[in-house]
Amino acid sequence: MTYLITGGAGFIGSNFVKYMLATHPDAKLIVYDALTYAGNLGTLAEELKNPRVTFVKGDICDRDMTEKVFSDYEIEYVVNFAAESHVDRSIENPQLFLQVNVLGTQNLLDTAKKYWTTGKDENNYPIWREGVKYLQVSTDEVYGSLGEEGFFTETTPLDPRSPYSAAKAGGDLIVRAYGETYRMPVNITRCSNNYGPYHFPEKLIPLIIRNILAGKQLPVYGDGSNVRDWLYVEDHCKAIDAVLHRGRLDEVYNIGGHNEEKNIEIVRLVIKTIREIMEKEPKYREVLKKKEITADGTIDISWINDDLISFVKDRQGHDQRYAIDPTKISEELGWLPETTFDEGIVKTIYWYLDNQQWVEEVTSGDYMKYYEQMYHNR
Ligand code: NAD
Ligand code: TYD
Repeated sequence: MTYLITGGAGFIGSNFVKYMLATHPDAKLIVYDALTYAGNLGTLAEELKNPRVTFVKGDICDRDMTEKVFSDYEIEYVVNFAAESHVDRSIENPQLFLQVNVLGTQNLLDTAKKYWTTGKDENNYPIWREGVKYLQVSTDEVYGSLGEEGFFTETTPLDPRSPYSAAKAGGDLIVRAYGETYRMPVNITRCSNNYGPYHFPEKLIPLIIRNILAGKQLPVYGDGSNVRDWLYVEDHCKAIDAVLHRGRLDEVYNIGGHNEEKNIEIVRLVIKTIREIMEKEPKYREVLKKKEITADGTIDISWINDDLISFVKDRQGHDQRYAIDPTKISEELGWLPETTFDEGIVKTIYWYLDNQQWVEEVTSGDYMKYYEQMYHNR
């Protein structure tokens, strides 16, 4: 089977590439990625040595390039991770988000339609090759924002509030339109917030870890009461695998693990966990940028505490709460999250402590400029 993994050099896409290689011995993967600030080939250094993986640099909006990929390879599955993915950036530049997340999605669908159809039936519907499928990786943010109670189900009306989520909802709608109008075999998955290895440090959890290690303040938007529903990235990959291979055509599947937490609690937990690791395993203190030596000759960690937290100006239109009801995927496909948050956050923090070189690599370019711009007047 040949899979086109668009956005495969980003956070979730690269985790999916690693997961597929490890679990599907026959899978051939074409990783297609524009390598924006969020894409990093270093993440796939090992995988790119594998003859089952081919990398193609390209934009999902570029018709010549998407056609070239479909004509060069016998693609059977498309899993579209490629997107502009950060809400704060979408507030600064909404048009880019529409360009990539809506028009890029439409271009991919249309290219797939050209290469996956063999003619038309008597009612003018395209005849699709056997066994092909397009899966759109989407987000719970398309459902909008919840109050204290309730969960998003697959029938919750779309009500996006940020340019990011509006653009993702636009992408979902055009996928649905291709499913209905051309009978294209499609699925849409809508997942809650992911965390884990290779997460770009503009998002909450990796940004907090990076700032602690750099001895910097931890910016919490508003009063920190906003709630996100966190899922370990590998569990998301398993859910996509289940939907891709066993999901009913044209269906939407929500993915989440009932792990809601307020942002402020997440930040406190990350501080506490890093401090505990450094108490237990002093070698990790070497990772700190701030290395003040105490009287007993060890690197001081007493400053790693809640005083690092800095409440800053809130995000415009900040969604209050997201929470997924995963009943459909659990009952139909038997998917359940396997990594608890307590376990996952510790694994994630260790991963960042052990992979500082990756963090340095991905933040060496425009990241510092971005950080200055986004946070200087908050
Ligand atoms: P990411 O920003 O880490 O990665 C996006 C990848 O897409 C990068 O490798 C980037 O280079 C690539 N890309 C961007 N524009 C492109 C273009 N025009 N053409 C080709 N490649 C392009 O994002 P992520 O967190 O890995 O998210 C992946 C997908 O999952 C997105 O569609 C996102 O909306 C969705 N999602 C993310 C989360 C989350 O918590 N991160 C949750 C639910 C859904
Ligand atoms: P983020 O990781 O950007 O994901 P999303 O906005 O897609 O949910 O943010 C998660 C939550 O953390 C969100 O409520 C905004 C908040 N947040 C902060 O408080 N400080 C920060 O520096 C960042 C990046 C996010």
